[in-house]
Amino acid sequence: MANARGVFISFEGIDGSGKSTQARAMAEALKGQGHKVCLTREPGGSPGAEEIRRLLVEGDPGRWSPETEILLFTAARRDHLERLIAPALAAGEVVICDRFADSTRIYQGTARADLRPMVDQLHDLMIGTEPDLTLILDMDADAALERGLARASGEDRFEDMGQDFQRRLAAGFRALALDAPARCRLIDGSGAEDHVSARVQAAVSAYLS
Ligand code: TYD
Repeated sequence: MANARGVFISFEGIDGSGKSTQARAMAEALKGQGHKVCLTREPGGSPGAEEIRRLLVEGDPGRWSPETEILLFTAARRDHLERLIAPALAAGEVVICDRFADSTRIYQGTARADLRPMVDQLHDLMIGTEPDLTLILDMDADAALERGLARASGEDRFEDMGQDFQRRLAAGFRALALDAPARCRLIDGSGAEDHVSARVQAAVSAYLS
């Protein structure tokens, strides 16, 4: 499934890095510039994938093995891609996705277990699509975890895996930005929300022009 005529932008980062706020702000800014925007998120984004989301983000941290998690995230992503992302791209829209396959590469493939080859194989087999541009919000793991848990959203299964886990995630996302420089931009996520927005906007404008 090629990215057809639209533009596919993903936001990535650790829990509490502010990426959801920034994804929303970016969607509003692009709409204001006259773009047709589809703002969505993972896990979820389509009715079936939202059902799978609940299995993944709620409950005991040990509820699933890393391997089972990879299958569930990929199943949710396949449904999301078939039913929402691919049609929106085919219609020429800008798709902004709050997390995509990089989250599986880093959460399940790197931080939770050393399973990156399995994640990559399943991605090639079942998804086969990458964003055109990935904005990775970089943030101190301890500060981000405090922010994430303070929200007490009831979706804290991954936050509950602890501080070391969050530090491994932060390191994994930084390494990813170095591994895939053509599509990834590492954005400093510290400081006031509008300062971070300005950094994100600059990266997106540079890409779109
Ligand atoms: P998300 O809704 O983005 O949570 P937050 O807004 O708190 O960052 O994602 C829910 C959780 O699922 C989050 O802890 C990250 C995790 N996750 C994975 O482990 N693998 C994945 O492939 C995805 C998409 C998310």
